[in-house]
Amino acid sequence: MTKNIELLNWVESIAKLCQPESVHWCTGSEEEFDDLTSLLIEKGTFIKLNEKKRPNSFYSRSDPSDVARVEDRTFICSKKKEDAGPTNNWEDQKIMKEILLNKFNGSMRGRTMYVIPFSMGPLGSNISQIGVEITDSPYVVCNMKIMTRIGKEVLDVLGNGEFVHCLHSVGMPLVDNLKDVPWPCCEEKYIVHFPEERSIWSFGSGYGGNALLGKKCFALRIASCMAKDEGWLAEHMLIVGITSPEGIKKYIAAAFPSACGKTNLAMLTPTIPGWKVETVGDDIAWLKIGDDGRLYAINPEAGFFGVVPGTSMDTNPNAIMSMQKNTIFTNVALTPDKDVWWEGFTLKKPEKLVDWLGKEWTAESHTKAAHPNSRFTSPASQCPVIDPAWEDPKAVPISAILFGGRRSEVVPLVYQAFNWQHGVFLGAIVSSETTAAAEGKVGKLRHDPFAMLPFCGYNMGDYFSHWINIGKSADEKKLPKIFYVNWFRKDSHGKFIWPGYGENIRVLKWIHQRTDNENSVVETPIGFLPDESSIDVSGLEIQKEKLKQVLSINNREWLREVKEIRDYFKIFGNRLPKEFIVELNSLEEKLGKNY
Ligand code: GTP
Ligand code: SPV
Ligand code: MN
Repeated sequence: MTKNIELLNWVESIAKLCQPESVHWCTGSEEEFDDLTSLLIEKGTFIKLNEKKRPNSFYSRSDPSDVARVEDRTFICSKKKEDAGPTNNWEDQKIMKEILLNKFNGSMRGRTMYVIPFSMGPLGSNISQIGVEITDSPYVVCNMKIMTRIGKEVLDVLGNGEFVHCLHSVGMPLVDNLKDVPWPCCEEKYIVHFPEERSIWSFGSGYGGNALLGKKCFALRIASCMAKDEGWLAEHMLIVGITSPEGIKKYIAAAFPSACGKTNLAMLTPTIPGWKVETVGDDIAWLKIGDDGRLYAINPEAGFFGVVPGTSMDTNPNAIMSMQKNTIFTNVALTPDKDVWWEGFTLKKPEKLVDWLGKEWTAESHTKAAHPNSRFTSPASQCPVIDPAWEDPKAVPISAILFGGRRSEVVPLVYQAFNWQHGVFLGAIVSSETTAAAEGKVGKLRHDPFAMLPFCGYNMGDYFSHWINIGKSADEKKLPKIFYVNWFRKDSHGKFIWPGYGENIRVLKWIHQRTDNENSVVETPIGFLPDESSIDVSGLEIQKEKLKQVLSINNREWLREVKEIRDYFKIFGNRLPKEFIVELNSLEEKLGKNY
C-alpha cells in the first residue's frame, strides 16, 4: 500500500462520492488478472478463446452504442475558454464540476471500485509520468494492465510524489434490483479534462480512448499541456527504427489520424531485400530535445490497442503474431471453435460465425461480421519486431518526422518540407477522411492538424507556436527532417493506387536517404518531391502512369487547397502563428507562377 496522503485522501473522497460496494487496490499481479478475467467470464463480458489456438486470450462485445471515441462529448475545461481554443469543446469549470459531481454521485453502487496506479513510460525513468485511474470496470483494469505498467511497483516509485487523477465510471449503478449486463455503460457520456489541475473525469463509456485514461486523455490531452509548459512534445505518433542493408539505423516518428496506418507502418514487413523495420511504438510519442541537441522519443505505452479489420498475414504479419496470446479482442466476430475473425483476415469468408452483435452470421450475410473499429489489446513485448530500445529510458533519436492522412485526391505519395518552419506548416495543414475510430460519419474530409485535432489539450493555435518555438530554440541541422505522406490516393474506380503496407518501405527508403540529403528531388511549390527514378520500385508491379500520378501535383487542385486552408486558419484568430501566413502566401505565389 501507499503512504501518499494525496492519493489516500483522493481515493477516500471518491469512494464517498461514488459509493461502491468495495474498494480494490490493484497489485498488477498475474493472479489478480486471472481473478478479473474469471469474474468477467462469469459476468458474460468475456468469452475465453480457444486455449490451444490463442492462449490466455479473451473475446468481448461492447454495447452497440459504445464502440468508439465520442469527440462531441469530450471537453477541455481550462479556466479560460480561449485556452481550450476553437477546436475543443469547453465548459466553465464550476458548471462542469457540478454536472460531474452529480453524475458520479452514487455511480458505482453495487460495484467494486478499482484503484489502478500506472506509469506512462518505463517505470522509474525520468521521462515517465504516473497516474492513478479509479474505475468501476474490471474490463478497463484488464486492458490497462496490458496497455500501461500498473500496480505495486508504481506506488513505490510514486512515493509522496504527484500523479494525474483519472476518474472513470461506466455510469450504471446497480440499484433497485437492476441486473448487471455484460457491457454496462450510460447513454449520456462525459470525457472531461481539467488541464490546470491535471485531472480527468470520464463517465458513461467503457470503450478504448474514452475509458483507458492513460492513453488519449493522459498521454495526449493532459501530457500536451505539460509538454507545452515544460518545452517538450506529446504527439499522436508511431515510432519506428529503420535499418538499411548497409546497417545504418534511423528512427522516424509519424503522425497520422486515427485508423490511418500508424500501427501498420510501425510494424511494417519490408518487401525490398536487406531492409529491417523495428517497432518502438504504434500510437503515442513523447519527444524531448536531448543534451546533444537532437530530438529524442519514447513510447509511453506498454501495449497496442490496434484496429483489427484489414489486418492479415499479408498486410501486417507482425500484428497478427503480436495477438497470438495474452490478448483481448473487442467487437470482432467469433468462430465456432472459439477463435476470432474479421473482415480482411482471410480472403475466404468463414461459413459460419457469431458477429460482433452476438448474432448468427454466414458467408452470405450482407453485414460486417466485425465492427470497423474493432480492436485488439496486446502487450507490445509480444511484437516479433519490437525494437531492442523500446523501453530504453534514454529514448531514441529521431531523424525524420512524417505527417499524413487519408486523401483520395490531391496529395502525393510523399514530399519533403523545405525546412523546419515549412514542416510545421505541413503538420498544421493535415486533413484526412474520417474513420470509424470516432463516432460520426466515415469518409468525410476534415482538417486534423498534426493528427491531434481530437487530442490537443489546449489552444491549437498555441500548439502551432509551440512547435515553431521548438525549432527556434534548437539547432535546425540536428532536428529531424519533415515529410508528408499519403498511402490513400484512389483511381477513378475508387481503388487505392499505391499498394501500401509492406510496400511503404519503398517510401521509407527514400526518406531514410533524404535524411542525409541523398537521392534526387524535384523542387515543387509544395516541397521536394522524389524524382520518379529515385523511388525504388524494383520487383513492384505498378503502371508507370500510376506511379507518375502519385508522384506529381496539380497546381489548380493545390490552389483550391490553399484557399481552403486560408479559410480554415481564420478560426485561430490572433493565435495563428504569423509564420503560417508567410508559408501560405509563399505557397500560393509559387503555385500561381507555375500555373
Ligand atoms: P489508431 O489506432 O486509431 O490511432 O490507428 P492507426 O493509425 O494505428 O491505424 P492502423 O495502422 O491500425 O490502420 C487502420 C486501417 O488502415 C486498417 O484497416 C489498415 O488495414 C489500413 N491501412 C494501414 N496502412 C495502410 C496502407 O498502407 N494502405 C492501405 N490501403 N490501407 C492501410
Ligand atoms: C484512436 O482513436 O486514435 C485510437 C483508439 O488509437 S482509442 O484508444 O479508442 O482512442
Ligand atoms: Mn490513435
